[in-house]
Amino acid sequence: MAGVTAPRLKVGVLISGRGSNMQALIEACAAPGFPAAIALVLSNDPGAAGLARAREAGIATAVVEHRGFGKDRPAFERALTAALEKAGVQFVCLAGFMRLLTETFVNRWRDRLINIHPSLLPAFRGLDTHRRALEAGVRLHGCTVHFVRTAMDDGPIIVQAAVPVWPSDTEDALAARVLRAEHRCYPLALKLCAERRVRVEGEHCRLDGVTSQEAALINPPPELG
Ligand code: GRF
Repeated sequence: MAGVTAPRLKVGVLISGRGSNMQALIEACAAPGFPAAIALVLSNDPGAAGLARAREAGIATAVVEHRGFGKDRPAFERALTAALEKAGVQFVCLAGFMRLLTETFVNRWRDRLINIHPSLLPAFRGLDTHRRALEAGVRLHGCTVHFVRTAMDDGPIIVQAAVPVWPSDTEDALAARVLRAEHRCYPLALKLCAERRVRVEGEHCRLDGVTSQEAALINPPPELG
């Protein structure tokens, strides 16, 4: 209906560190007409640099320290979910959140919980992806935004972007190139999800109505239409 805009999806962003992907999401959400808004930035580490960046942007923040829960991961995750629910969060973006999540949390947020990983999954799950990509001698590396499942760095792939690997690359140079791609991919993936243009079918994502402008943000592009 003309003049009626859909309410913006309320997003929680979980971080553990510097929060550059969180920053990319904050900037995307600030653009007029973006279909999502960040209701809460939540960290397991009170020293996470991203918390200050979020506060500077006027975003609500909270800390749930995993250390306080010892080995009781379910209790830690109940506290995470309580903080997210209190803020009215409908959808969760992991952005450098360095805790593994149990099945209970993953299922509570199933298909409303996404992560960004610095490799072209399923290659190079886990840590030190850039070093391992250089060691493997791959010509293409990149990043992936995917729905979270209980297995680490696993789940239906929403968006990927490939970057070249050059013979002269150091780990830092490659990481910086991938990070630039991450900052394009994560806002795009969130936009597609918020506009309900991502369907999970048989653990594969189908994307609806991807425009050439959106496709230009990533390489290789998703199927069109
Ligand atoms: C990114 O490389 C992301 O892909 C990975 O952790 C890193 C977080 O960086 N999951 P930042 O905190 O977003 O700058």
